[in-house]
Amino acid sequence: MYLTNEQEAVLKGEEGWAKKKCLEIIVGLGEIYGADRLIPVASTQISGVSYKTLGEYGLQWVESLAPAKVVVPSTLNPAGMDLCFWLEMGVPEDFAAKQMRVIRAYERLGVITLCSCTPYLAGFAPRFGEHVAWSESSAVCFVNSFLGARTNREGGPSALASAITGLTANYGLHLNENRKPTTIVKVSAKLGGLSDYSALGYLLGKMVQRDIPYLRGLPSLSVDEAKALSAAAAASGNLALFHAEGFTPESRGDVVEVGERLHVDDRDLKGVYEELSTIHSGKIDLVAIGCPHASLAELESAAALLKGKKIPPTTKLWFFTSLPIKVLAERLGFVAVIEGAGGKVFTDCCMIVAPLERMGFTTMAVNSAKAAVYAPTASRVDVVFTTFEKCVDIALEGRLV
Ligand code: F3S
Repeated sequence: MYLTNEQEAVLKGEEGWAKKKCLEIIVGLGEIYGADRLIPVASTQISGVSYKTLGEYGLQWVESLAPAKVVVPSTLNPAGMDLCFWLEMGVPEDFAAKQMRVIRAYERLGVITLCSCTPYLAGFAPRFGEHVAWSESSAVCFVNSFLGARTNREGGPSALASAITGLTANYGLHLNENRKPTTIVKVSAKLGGLSDYSALGYLLGKMVQRDIPYLRGLPSLSVDEAKALSAAAAASGNLALFHAEGFTPESRGDVVEVGERLHVDDRDLKGVYEELSTIHSGKIDLVAIGCPHASLAELESAAALLKGKKIPPTTKLWFFTSLPIKVLAERLGFVAVIEGAGGKVFTDCCMIVAPLERMGFTTMAVNSAKAAVYAPTASRVDVVFTTFEKCVDIALEGRLV
């Protein structure tokens, strides 16, 4: 792989231990994947933030990199708790102390501590054609497919290494030839709310393990629909890029005729709700919405459904979003309505990376296929995957309805 004199000097340690180690990670990945050179990145998004997933060794690695500083705008994935209201969530104190150590370690490196899987909704949206190094799988799929930015599915350490060096290796989805659709997926299923897009994403991720799908037949693809689709597609498989006819900027206007045709119909979609639900009756401890982090429009819809209603104290209704979206939702009165009904709007975290397994929850309802896939193993809860409206109804009844 070609390296500039400047990059060779960094590898010799002339700019310090941390930068040398970080460049070694980038170069190592480049060699594994056959990159020809390193390229600059415009931003990074770093996973490995919740202490639940990072652990002690991960925390020590992040701490060891100071006093190095990131050289491009860099944000974080969700942490394991709301950084202000963790006590209200019931997060154990020992976990909270470790979590705050993680946040301080990233702060010392100059990372912007916006802890969100949807930074593109909060002022950090990469532009068309821009090379970035992002690691949250749902966000990677969204920015590649919906915005036309270019990123591989980075791990937390490689995204942090890119943040500190400003570089990534030129391979995979940074290259034109690897971004072309390779199989057509015809969607004839009738898509209703966001959970249907999430169910479609789940099927897509499972169906196309190595291919880049070209979706034909989507009636619409709003930001929230693309967010739901991307998250589930990246959770059930390795998908980091799809093309949706008429919507994906890179293929807009192209006539694509490639590969094997797959098909998704109403029965397939309905089957996902059954497949991902591990319970079908009884009490629900937690209704959790915001995987990926809820948009302003989702919080507005929730406020409309909850206005004048009351959630029983035995069930919790929690929304997860980013701090900037919550601030706007507060200003617009949505948070007051949701919290007036007994719900909560938390920031910085989510239902999967929070230590739910230590917080007394055993059953959870979600409208996200990604959350439904991960919850039974990551948080050891039984789960029901259903629509947004049914989630709110479950919260109001305190049980499956
Ligand atoms: Fe985001 Fe957590 Fe879901 S990181 S995509 S809300 S699992």
